[in-house]
Amino acid sequence: MADWLIRNARLVNEGREFEGDLRVRGERIEEIGMGLSARPGEQVLDAHGRWLMPGMIDDQVHFREPGLTHKGDQATESAAAVAGGITSFMDMPNTRPPTLDSAALEEKYAHAAGRCRGNYGFYLGASNDNLAAIRALDPKAAPGIKVFMGASTGNMLVDDPDTLDAIFRDAPVPIITHCEDTPMIEAAQAAAQARFGDEVPVSMHPDIRSREACLKSTRLAVSLAKKHGARLHVLHISTADELALFEAGPLLDENGRLRKRITAETCIHFLRFCREDYAARGNFIKCNPAIKDAGDRDALIAALAGDVIDVLATDHAPHTLEEKRQPYLSAPSGLPLVQEALVAALELVHEKKLRAAQVVQKFAHAPAQLFDVAERGFLREGFFADLVLVDPFTGYTVEREKVLSKCGWSPFEGTRFSSRIAATFVNGELAWDGQRLIGEPQGRRLAIAR
Ligand code: DOR
Repeated sequence: MADWLIRNARLVNEGREFEGDLRVRGERIEEIGMGLSARPGEQVLDAHGRWLMPGMIDDQVHFREPGLTHKGDQATESAAAVAGGITSFMDMPNTRPPTLDSAALEEKYAHAAGRCRGNYGFYLGASNDNLAAIRALDPKAAPGIKVFMGASTGNMLVDDPDTLDAIFRDAPVPIITHCEDTPMIEAAQAAAQARFGDEVPVSMHPDIRSREACLKSTRLAVSLAKKHGARLHVLHISTADELALFEAGPLLDENGRLRKRITAETCIHFLRFCREDYAARGNFIKCNPAIKDAGDRDALIAALAGDVIDVLATDHAPHTLEEKRQPYLSAPSGLPLVQEALVAALELVHEKKLRAAQVVQKFAHAPAQLFDVAERGFLREGFFADLVLVDPFTGYTVEREKVLSKCGWSPFEGTRFSSRIAATFVNGELAWDGQRLIGEPQGRRLAIAR
C-alpha cells in the first residue's frame, strides 16, 4: 500500500477553505500542513490548487442487495459512488427479502465484505410487526431504523398507529423516515385514473404524490418525535411547505454535542430538477417523493444554506431502462444519482448559491455526526483517509456510455457540469483516478461509535 503526499491543494473542511498539503500514511491521514516535504517512497500528487475534501457520506442509497440485483448491486453501485466522490454509504432495507431483523442485517454485512468500493452501513427496516427486532437492535449494528411512513418501492409501509407510536417510543437508534401520506396519494391517483384511464401523464406525478401528502406525513413524524423525545431524521424533503417544521441552526452545540433531535435531509435531484423537467425527462425523473416546483427547489437550496436542512444525500435508486420505459403508472420510482451527485451539488457553488464548505458540511460532516460514524467525514489527522479531489474548473457532459451503475443510464444525461472528480481515495488507497477505477474494493463496514 502506497503512502501519499497531496500537495498544493485547496482544502475544504469544517467551514474553511485554505491552501495546504495532506499526507496519507497507510489507511489514515497523518498530517495536514503547509510546505510538507515528501518522504522516500511516498507518491506525490500535485493538486495544482484543486479542491481536496473528505469523501462524501451518502446517508440514503438503494444498492438493491439482496434480491433486486438486476437493477444494481453493492459492487456496481459502490463503484459508481466512488467515481462520484462518495466514499461511504448507508443502504436501505427495501430489498428482497427486506432487512427486518438482526440476522438479515448481519447477512447483508457479511455479503458486502470485500465487494464494496466504499465503506458501508446498513439500516434496519421497520414493518407493522417487527417491534421486537427493533427493540433488540444493537445500536452499533445499524446507523438507524428506516420507517416508510408512506408506501414506495418495496412493500414496507408502516401505517398501524400503535406500531408507529411504539417505534418512536422505543427505537434504540435514530429513526429515519420516508414521509408521504399513502391514503392521500391513492385518492389522487384514483382521481387521475378516472380522468385519464391508463394514460396518466407523468407530469401529474407531483400532483398525485402531492405536497399536501408530504406535509401531512412529515407533520405526523415530527409530532411523534416530539411526543417521545425521539431522534428523528426526515429523509428527502421535497417541498417548501415542510420546512417550517424544522429548526434552523447548527447541528452541534458549543460542546460538540448534537443540538437538534429532529433533523432533515434533502436530495440532489430536488435541487437540480423541477416540474418543467418532466416534459423532457418523463419517468427518468419519476421518484418518491416527487420532484415538485421551481419554488420548492429554490426554497430547499435556501434551507440548506440557512441550516434548516442538515444533510444532502442522493436516494440513489436504480431501475432498469426497460422498467423506466413503461407507461407512467407502471414505471417504478427512483433515479441513479451517486456518480453525479457531488458535481451536481458543486454546480450550486458555481452558481453562488452555496459555498463549497457548505456542500462538505451537508454531504460529509453532518451524516458522520448524525449517525455517529467513527473517524470519517472530516479532513483530520488520525482519521481514515477517505478523500475526494475535485477539479472545479474542468467540466464534462454526462454521457450514458460512462455510467457505472448497472442500470446504465443517468437522469443527468446531456447535462454539462462545471467540475469533475479528479481522484477518490478510500481508506488511504487510490480508488478512482479521474478516468477509471483502481485496484480492489477497499470499503469497510462503518464503525458506529455510540
Ligand atoms: O423513488 C424512490 N425510489 N423512492 C423510494 O422511496 C424508494 C426508491 C426505490 O427503492 O426505488
